[in-house]
Amino acid sequence: MIPSDVKATLSFSDGSPNMDLPLYKGTIGPDVIDIRKLYAQTGKFTYDPGFLSTASCNSTITYIDGDKGELLYRGYPIEQLATSCDYLETCYLLLYGELPNPAQKEEFVARVTNHTMVNEQMQFFLRGFRRDAHPMAVMTGLVGAMSAFYHDSTDINNPEHREIAAIRLIAKMPTLVAMAYKYTVGQPYIYPKNDLSYAGNFMRMMFATPCEDYKPNDVLVRAMDRIFILHADHEQNASTSTVRLCGSSGTNPFAAIAAGVACLWGPAHGGANEAALNMLEDIQRNGGVAKIGEFIKQVKDKNSGVKLMGFGHRVYKNYDPRAKLMRETCHEVLDELGLHNDPMFKLAMELEKIALEDEYFVARKLYPNVDFYSGIVQRAIGIPVPLFTAIFSLARTVGWIAQLNEMIGDPEYKIGRPRQLYVGATARNVKPIGER
Ligand code: SDX
Repeated sequence: MIPSDVKATLSFSDGSPNMDLPLYKGTIGPDVIDIRKLYAQTGKFTYDPGFLSTASCNSTITYIDGDKGELLYRGYPIEQLATSCDYLETCYLLLYGELPNPAQKEEFVARVTNHTMVNEQMQFFLRGFRRDAHPMAVMTGLVGAMSAFYHDSTDINNPEHREIAAIRLIAKMPTLVAMAYKYTVGQPYIYPKNDLSYAGNFMRMMFATPCEDYKPNDVLVRAMDRIFILHADHEQNASTSTVRLCGSSGTNPFAAIAAGVACLWGPAHGGANEAALNMLEDIQRNGGVAKIGEFIKQVKDKNSGVKLMGFGHRVYKNYDPRAKLMRETCHEVLDELGLHNDPMFKLAMELEKIALEDEYFVARKLYPNVDFYSGIVQRAIGIPVPLFTAIFSLARTVGWIAQLNEMIGDPEYKIGRPRQLYVGATARNVKPIGER
């Protein structure tokens, strides 16, 4: 952090003493006002529910310029990473800060590949679930359960433990997501195959059966790998902040990542891709493109409670760069599968066009986000809708780990413990029940 030569002075109209607050500059993006001494010096808190104006940490991992619609992982634009790298290179970048050279990549891929199997006992957790359990319920359980298997890597303050836990989580998430899927369709689990790529291995564990060989389609594998890259990290979003807060208590990495999985499930966050596709299916069922106007009217009516899922973002007030890349991937996958006339894709593009011309969305700077098109791509690939967010959690695991490790590696970090503005009852005495 670079101290700014600008100072902020806090003054109070009741004659309380003024307070100078230092400002810090980042390498890019908004400066911050350092309020760490505010309570000690003024006896007052700041108030920012939802943290719209609050920087919870300093970070070197990901930067979003919401006005320009730019996303950088360790300084590299997402457009370049999504077209020139694969997901494991991106994992290496997010974890260690630099893109790997060929030897580093080969060694990293080998390490991840050799941790893709899960303990045979893990399958018995699944048996406790109903077959129609939501995959995110299963994933929340399975990821948390991993802390019961790796007692040699649960000390988050031990760099070696953090390293092997990171490799194990990145390696095993595809296996666990595929197991959660196979369990719901009553098919046997497919073991990882070490001669396949990370995304190819995932596709095979999802769609192969013991009855015949399965050769992953290269275009679909590349699309899956790109979906992983686009979802890998995204600054201090709700689930990443959850992982940081959870990890700040010193709990083990698996428990902290399980908390991230639980938070990501929500429809306002990672659950939006499932909600966006269900929304498109509803519109399709009720008349398709001809009914878009009616649906938009519902969205604009605050009493309807209907939102245009896959649109809007706390940070992006321009087009989410990931949505553009996801739409391109849509074209590639639908063309490869001969589905370029897919009615759902046509409906999504028409809905996007109408929304982007409508004053309600323009005035609120609501643009498509990563979740608007990702459901259409995944559905075309054959991923069932309830599994979309589980795949998001697979891809985001590396971001959660990188952010958690960055926090733990910061000598200044403390357990997170926000305060509040108390508006409840003042102290009062309990009356015996007969007098209440
Ligand atoms: C992700 O944080 C991240 O980085 C998340 C993420 C990541 O990679 O980690 O990018 C992944 O979660 C993407 C977002 C997915 N969520 C959705 O698509 C759900 C639909 N979107 C919204 O619920 C909403 O846009 C949020 C939650 C994403 C952002 O909400 P904010 O920042 O709190 O903004 P807001 O709700 O205050 O909206 C501002 C205005 C409001 O109208 P007014 O009260 O000003 O009249 O815009 C309206 C909202 O009602 N609005 C929408 C809308 N999103 C916001 N109206 C209709 N449809 C929408 N989708």
